[in-house]
Amino acid sequence: MRIPEAKIEEIRNSTNIVDIISSYVQLRKRGRNYVGLCPFHHEKTPSFTVSDEKQIFHCFGCHVGGNVFNFLMNYKNISYIEAVLEIAEQAGISVQYEKSEDKSTQSELEILYDINLIAAKYFTDNLLNNPKGEFAKSYLRQRNIKPQTKRLFGLGYAMPVWNDFYNYIIKNKIDVDKTKELGLIEKRDDGSYYDKFAGRLIFPIFSTNGRVIGFGGRILEKDDKYAKYLNSPESKIYQKRKSLYGLYHSKDEIRRLNKTILVEGYMDLISLYQNGIKNVVASSGTSLTEEQVQLLSRFTRNIAVIFDADIAGYKATERSIELLLKNDFDIQIVELPDNEDPDSFINNYGAEEFDELVKHSKNFLEFNVSQMDKKGILSNPSKQTEGIREIIRLLALVSDDLKRNLFIKAISKKFNLREKLLENELDLALNRIKRNYSEVKTSQTVVGNKSKEYGKLDEIQNEDQIEKEIIKLLFANEQEITDFIIASINVEDLQNKNYRKIFHTVWENFQLGNYSTAQIIEAIKDDNLKNLVLSLSLNDVSISKNWEDDLSKEKINKDFYRFTYETVKKFKLKIIKSKIKINNQKIENSDSEEEIQVLFLENQKLENQKLEISKKKFINDKLSEANFD
Ligand code: CTP
Ligand code: MN
Repeated sequence: MRIPEAKIEEIRNSTNIVDIISSYVQLRKRGRNYVGLCPFHHEKTPSFTVSDEKQIFHCFGCHVGGNVFNFLMNYKNISYIEAVLEIAEQAGISVQYEKSEDKSTQSELEILYDINLIAAKYFTDNLLNNPKGEFAKSYLRQRNIKPQTKRLFGLGYAMPVWNDFYNYIIKNKIDVDKTKELGLIEKRDDGSYYDKFAGRLIFPIFSTNGRVIGFGGRILEKDDKYAKYLNSPESKIYQKRKSLYGLYHSKDEIRRLNKTILVEGYMDLISLYQNGIKNVVASSGTSLTEEQVQLLSRFTRNIAVIFDADIAGYKATERSIELLLKNDFDIQIVELPDNEDPDSFINNYGAEEFDELVKHSKNFLEFNVSQMDKKGILSNPSKQTEGIREIIRLLALVSDDLKRNLFIKAISKKFNLREKLLENELDLALNRIKRNYSEVKTSQTVVGNKSKEYGKLDEIQNEDQIEKEIIKLLFANEQEITDFIIASINVEDLQNKNYRKIFHTVWENFQLGNYSTAQIIEAIKDDNLKNLVLSLSLNDVSISKNWEDDLSKEKINKDFYRFTYETVKKFKLKIIKSKIKINNQKIENSDSEEEIQVLFLENQKLENQKLEISKKKFINDKLSEANFD
């Protein structure tokens, strides 16, 4: 069983190492490269370097390095194939294994990408080089778009006849069905085809890595028969809810400034960019999706939202605020004068005025209050209560305690209400959120257990017990213990989701050299998790009580370290055993000789590892000298 080289290459090209590593390591731009704290060794100044250009990483401190797959292999302790498959899954690329050595043909996704690229080139050529493109050219001139901006964003023009592009693909022997699948042409009832984007100005939509995944097309003359914008339909390479227009062009600047500006339209983005405001992304007319917010959070959590000063714009802003708050974003809302959009504003008033506008943006509280003011809600005593409740409901979504408090103070002042009253209201809102959260949790546990037989229940609880001990040990305020656990355990191996989150937070702090429980507790944003940690680290860690006993500290340390060692060892063996078990199940269910072979081999390796680990002994009472590698 193997994945064809070309496929692996395709998968590698579908991703950007900077984006992948960014989701695990905080990176900053330095010169041509990105740097951050190395996840593979403990350091306080960054020597971990990632090159966007060369798509490699290297740590000058501990000398690990390689491509994006090597990073995942090291980071997650997974095999090469697993790393390849993980990236493939993220990129939505399906992988078929090949048995023989014959060269695989180009994959389906590659063909789709290629067709889009060919189409994009065709459109650009129409605009830039074809005399018939003059109409579109003059339209862009009229809208102040400079030639280099046209080129940078790959703008194009679809000829104003119904078959120019269709003829082009026929002439070039391009797959008609796939071109139709991408929404570039459409079939008529009589079986003939026509160009979907005919006569439109074309905005190619790029993936975060710069591949053409779709198109937006604008009509050049107002015509009520046709929608102003036409966008590519969803396809195997374009999922609207997952992509943000302009992010490919703006991501570096967003990282550099640690801030982004969200606008609605293609033209808004392009005009701002052309005027030097380059940290922009566009939602393309709808309110944000969860996936888009998550995508953005890989680059920054500071956002200024500028939607058009119309009703649709306000509605979209309100919906976006809620989603952004839930995802821990710091939000500013920029309000435009009536009937302006960012594009018209910057063309009418210039970049300096625009900066001024952003500077005078409102936070979400001020924005909501002003919205309610406009609707007359706040001057009407019977509606005022509802209005304030709505604001508090949003406030409860803010996870930062301090921020919440500041908002409470502001609301109290604004409405002349006692803070205590507002705090009570906030507590109610917080409890509602917590209740929802635990309902989700219990329903998940019930489903989870139902599917398992009784006999296994014991084992599951046991597993949780070991994980719990490990988490407790992490909070023992003993650097040697934290070091050892972090070096020995992969966060992904923890089965309990909460423990995994906690472990991850400890790990992040560890990278910064923070070991103290107090510091780490502060870093845990989720109240439920915070409580869990507090109870684990305070209630039943018997060892912390022992510190005050008259036993010598040395003696305690010795036992403590041994206990840590044995716990980690137990955990490691459990993980290996469960991997073997899963493989055995797969072997039972598989009817592919080859797959079974691979699984057998894997199990052999795992059995060896198991043996090695079970033979290991804790010696010299020193954790710093112990390891399970
Ligand atoms: N949009 C769309 N389909 C439409 C109208 C709008 O997909 N029928 C999306 C486009 O991405 C557009 C954005 O919504 O860029 C904002 O729409 P609108 O404000 O109407 O257009 P503008 O961006 O202002 O475009 P222009 O300045 O060219 O009129
Ligand atoms: Mn506009």
